[in-house]
Amino acid sequence: MTVVPAQSTSGLIPAPRAAVPGSTFPAGFAWGAATAAYQIEGAVTEDGRTPSIWDVFSHTPGKVVNGDNGDTAVDHYHRFREDVRLMADLGLTSYRFSLAWPRIQPTGRGPAVERGLDFYRALTDELLAHGITPVATLYHWDLPQHLEDLGGWTVRDTSYRFAEYAALAAEALGDRIGTWTTLNEPWCSAFLGYGSGVHAPGHTSPAEALKAAHHLNLGHGLAVGALRAALPASAQIALSLNLHQVRPLTGDASDADAVRQIDAVGNRIFTGPVLRGAYPADLLEDTVHLVDWDALVQPGDLDEISRPIDLLGINYYTPTVVSSRENAEAGARSDVHGASEHSPWPGADDIVFHQAPGAVTAMDWPIDATGLTDLLLDVHQAHPGLPMLVTENGAAFDDEVGPDGTVDDSDRIAYLHDHLGAVARAIEAGADVRGYYLWSLMDNFEWAHGYAKRFGAVHVDYQTLVRTPKASAKWYSEVIRRGGLA
Ligand code: FCB
Repeated sequence: MTVVPAQSTSGLIPAPRAAVPGSTFPAGFAWGAATAAYQIEGAVTEDGRTPSIWDVFSHTPGKVVNGDNGDTAVDHYHRFREDVRLMADLGLTSYRFSLAWPRIQPTGRGPAVERGLDFYRALTDELLAHGITPVATLYHWDLPQHLEDLGGWTVRDTSYRFAEYAALAAEALGDRIGTWTTLNEPWCSAFLGYGSGVHAPGHTSPAEALKAAHHLNLGHGLAVGALRAALPASAQIALSLNLHQVRPLTGDASDADAVRQIDAVGNRIFTGPVLRGAYPADLLEDTVHLVDWDALVQPGDLDEISRPIDLLGINYYTPTVVSSRENAEAGARSDVHGASEHSPWPGADDIVFHQAPGAVTAMDWPIDATGLTDLLLDVHQAHPGLPMLVTENGAAFDDEVGPDGTVDDSDRIAYLHDHLGAVARAIEAGADVRGYYLWSLMDNFEWAHGYAKRFGAVHVDYQTLVRTPKASAKWYSEVIRRGGLA
């Protein structure tokens, strides 16, 4: 086991200090990259791990492009030392990864499996030995299938199971990991998992999606309590949301109302209870015909859910443009992360989604960095003083290894340059942004798109699993070395 040197990081993301000379970014800013367990680890049957909902879903014909699955992924489980070396070569000061619940608590109840924990002990020791601050996400979508068989996130018990798992993870790893994120993008878990069905477990019920959203919120709050009880007082606890930067197609009042509605069921359904202790009244009204909120939200739930957090993680890729049906033109677009005839937006059947103008990434996601500045400033204004991390931002492009063995991804460099500039503008305007995590460290299993979409700063050859840093990796390492954009 690696010995952690005395000068290693405190495991915390520091409060902002003076700006690096010539840069907007403060000294101590976390320059990171992110991944998630199911997308990179592989080794799905090793050391006591049981199937997650993503194992079952990806092995169901027709659910993932090319029938891809995470059985091997990029074999990070066996190659993590090489991957940490890549991070160190990049100069990363922080790394955001997720813990696989089915490795740590395979049936979703009972004691932790030491062999599962040992992997994360070894990984975090390796990170700390290289001076890289670990940020652990407890849940990046890989629910133990055992719990899905009992109702998954549509049932309340799963929230309590999640808090128990959080306690086990914190007790075992709290000496090494100072910064924790409960959930990654609960919007996707609830509305793509139980609404549109493009994500595991692939259900298509608006009522189930809303129930899942509440139980994810409750699970988050209970987990915050469990983490606070198990971790030192200095620990930082966060939640990562893919907040939608919602924009109207026209200046018409009906489009403003479309924005309100999508903001409610896309954003405020999480920020309301978590940061304000209440579900927004307009959300409850918009969805009253779909779910019995009075039965769903039990006494005391909102107190649990609104336990204070230390940092809000924000994941941003592209803005969301909406209109009322009257104002819709031809060309309404399918939704993020995969097309489905079922809507991931309960109660918003009359709202039409539009492709924002301009260039797109390989995901067909319009490139618009102003959305990131606006989003950070919106959160800053709505929740003054709340420290933020950009826990994901990046782009897929059809990268190819050139004849000389290099990967020239200048389109990704342009994307990252613009989006880091967008973060800088938000900081200049007063937002307390403490870190940026590029999605993703390396190419990986992109959910319903399988291996067809490459988001990495490091290229992975899926035949040989050879890693090759792309031009963007070299560019990012220069940014980190300078402490900001040139
Ligand atoms: C986010 C997910 C992440 C990855 C990126 C592209 O929604 O959190 O795992 O799929 O999108």
